[in-house]
Amino acid sequence: MRQAGRYLPEYRKVREKVDFLTLTKTPELAAEVTLQPIRRFGMDAAILFSDIMTPLEGMGVELEFAPGPLIRNPVRSAAAVDALRACDPEETVPFVLETLGILRDELPASAPLIGFAGAPFTLFCYLVEGGGSKTFNTAKAFLFAEPAAAVRLLEKLAEMTVSYLTAQAAAGAQALMLFDSWAGLLGPDDYRRFAVPSVTRVLDELAPLELPLIYFPNQGATLLADVAGLGADVVGLDWRTPLSAARATLGPAKAIQGNLDPAALFAPPNELRSRIDRVLEEAGSEPGHIFNLGHGIDRATDPDQVARLVDHVHERTEAADAE
Ligand code: CP3
Repeated sequence: MRQAGRYLPEYRKVREKVDFLTLTKTPELAAEVTLQPIRRFGMDAAILFSDIMTPLEGMGVELEFAPGPLIRNPVRSAAAVDALRACDPEETVPFVLETLGILRDELPASAPLIGFAGAPFTLFCYLVEGGGSKTFNTAKAFLFAEPAAAVRLLEKLAEMTVSYLTAQAAAGAQALMLFDSWAGLLGPDDYRRFAVPSVTRVLDELAPLELPLIYFPNQGATLLADVAGLGADVVGLDWRTPLSAARATLGPAKAIQGNLDPAALFAPPNELRSRIDRVLEEAGSEPGHIFNLGHGIDRATDPDQVARLVDHVHERTEAADAE
């Protein structure tokens, strides 16, 4: 997760020349920074370089990054919800589709390409709040005060996300990931009422593509019984949930992804390796585990630690495969 980015000197070099939004809209550069971590570390999969906010501009949202997302016209009324446009990805995000095309040509066949989008509830949080927040009180107040308008907004976001991810698949994405970074802000009743219907719609409408669908409900430990009922093939987990407990709740039909604490990358190499071993042991192998961090890489991370992580996971999993 966030395998490209500011912890890499080669990324910072590209960013000296262009701002973040320009980088996401310039296919040659977006493809280049997607490939940087693959070249340096040899991860097993590449994730498109873009942002969850990228497709919102096409709906009429005025977006900036400083460095997190800022919205000049937050959506805080039923009228503002109705004014958001439905969009055709070919017209509004041609640069994303072009980036995916370049990547499919340049990536080795051994490294699948992951496309992604924000889950409707997480996009809702930024759109209503107008930017990042610890609590998203403005967004939650809108949800509680005007549930009908809020649900309409979540539905519009679900519809946009289905067309956006369908276009990513047509352009070459081989797996699709939905980031629900703020799912954990909701208690189980509100998660069921507000987040589940929109995310269900996205996952169910993408099912005919027959690509692996990965859903990441960040800080979702108390939501996993509901997540088990969603149409995701893989559930991404943050580090607060032991993988064995997550498996027990999610059942045998779901693969899991995760969940090393990104702060482990700041520990001495031996401690990092033993924490990786613990994640691999907790995960087991049935019905599938994708090793990953439990959230994004911090920008202060030493790239040599990431190299140690990738090498160690490869050594351990190759040894297990040989048994
Ligand atoms: O993983 C990758 O390599 C793909 C690229 C990627 C980015 N954002 C690039 C980025 C992905 C998958 C995302 C997803 C994303 N964006 C999420 C979901 C995952 C999560 O972290 O929960 C969210 C919530 C966002 C919104 C967002 N964009 C935030 C909060 C920020 C600020 C981050 C910070 O650390 O300050 C961004 C900006 C952003 N998106 C950067 C990158 C590399 C840093 C911007 C820069 O280069 O200046």
